[in-house]
Amino acid sequence: MDYSSSNRDQLISRIKGLEEELDRKWYEEQHLSFIYDALDSTLNGVAITDLDGIIRYVNPSFLRMFEYTSKDDVTGKYAADIFVASKISNIADIDRILEREGDKKLEFDVYSKDGSIFQVEISSSSVKGRDGYLGIILSFNDITERKNVELENRILSTMIMKSQEMERQRVAKDLHDGVGQTISAAKLNFVAYQKDTVKHKERFKAGLQFIDSASRELREIYNDLYPSILSDMGLESTIRWYAKNSLEMNRVKVIFDINIEEKIQHSLEVDIYRITKELFSNIAKHSGADAVDFMLHSSSGMINLRVSDNGSGFEMTRLNDRRGFGISNIKQRVNSHGGVLTLQALPGEGTSVEIAIKGEEK
Ligand SMILES: Nc1ncnc2c1ncn2[C@@H]1O[C@H](COP(=O)(O)OP(=O)(O)OP(=O)(O)O)[C@@H](O)[C@H]1O
Ligand SMILES: [Mg+2]
Repeated sequence: MDYSSSNRDQLISRIKGLEEELDRKWYEEQHLSFIYDALDSTLNGVAITDLDGIIRYVNPSFLRMFEYTSKDDVTGKYAADIFVASKISNIADIDRILEREGDKKLEFDVYSKDGSIFQVEISSSSVKGRDGYLGIILSFNDITERKNVELENRILSTMIMKSQEMERQRVAKDLHDGVGQTISAAKLNFVAYQKDTVKHKERFKAGLQFIDSASRELREIYNDLYPSILSDMGLESTIRWYAKNSLEMNRVKVIFDINIEEKIQHSLEVDIYRITKELFSNIAKHSGADAVDFMLHSSSGMINLRVSDNGSGFEMTRLNDRRGFGISNIKQRVNSHGGVLTLQALPGEGTSVEIAIKGEEK
């Protein structure tokens, strides 16, 4: 092999090497641009930092989420200076925290450009090259709305628990003061009869009457818990029947405007019945009214209830001073269905209570 041919071979192999290198670079660049295209179109915010915590890339979703207009506002800056509001002071900590927790997703408070704080879920992973770690890739998911819904649900379930607790206390009281006392009275009569069946003949009859009354009281309590009357008669007839027995018997005239075009779901029916009972009871107890307008409509996905009386009315500002539970129970029931309650009252000018609740999605 002469000198010139070995030189030529070396040259050829160098050119081949360069070609391969170019091919590999081209391939890597294609690959990278493919990855950046994918990142540009993901909905999650994505930021890539180098090992010093300096941001090298952010995608459009990141800019939108943090309210920046240009990538230049962010790239080249320390990630920790850009967005971290709590728990972590520099970007490297994120990865350390994530490693330690063994969970690749964690929730953080972060700053947007204008300084407002919002909540994100961050997942991270390291970027590795041929020579080891190159940086960290962080993916941000805005969870502010989810957190707000979680908070509302927590408040609502506390309210429901409280109202269930009150309901339990009421049932315990009804059982103790009502049925409990009546059964004791029955027992006293039976004991007397047992001692002297001739002398206390009448006490046996009295004892039986108390037992009858206890069974009636039990039925009332049970009915109040699960108003079977509703499934037997339907909401409209039940309300008309209840108005007759509570208001009209006391010479309060009730004018009805009931139009249930769309069926109301059972749990809401039960609540409308209970709310109506409380409103009628307030009218009978406090208003001195002789006329009541009762309106209940269920159509176009809305349930509207309005009960107005022509009685004494009252000073609304004093509502908070009063110790009754009725109106606050109504509020809780309406809230639990995501509805709105409007109460209007003026001394001497009657009281009107209006409720609007969205019907259940079909
Ligand atoms: N229709 C009405 N007419 C006049 N005053 C009313 C009427 N409804 C409510 N009120 C006034 O509002 C107050 C609060 O009513 P609420 O139902 O919360 O309590 P209450 O009826 O006094 O007690 P509870 O309902 O716990 O038995 C009443 O005490 C009463 O003064
Ligand atoms: Mg009341």
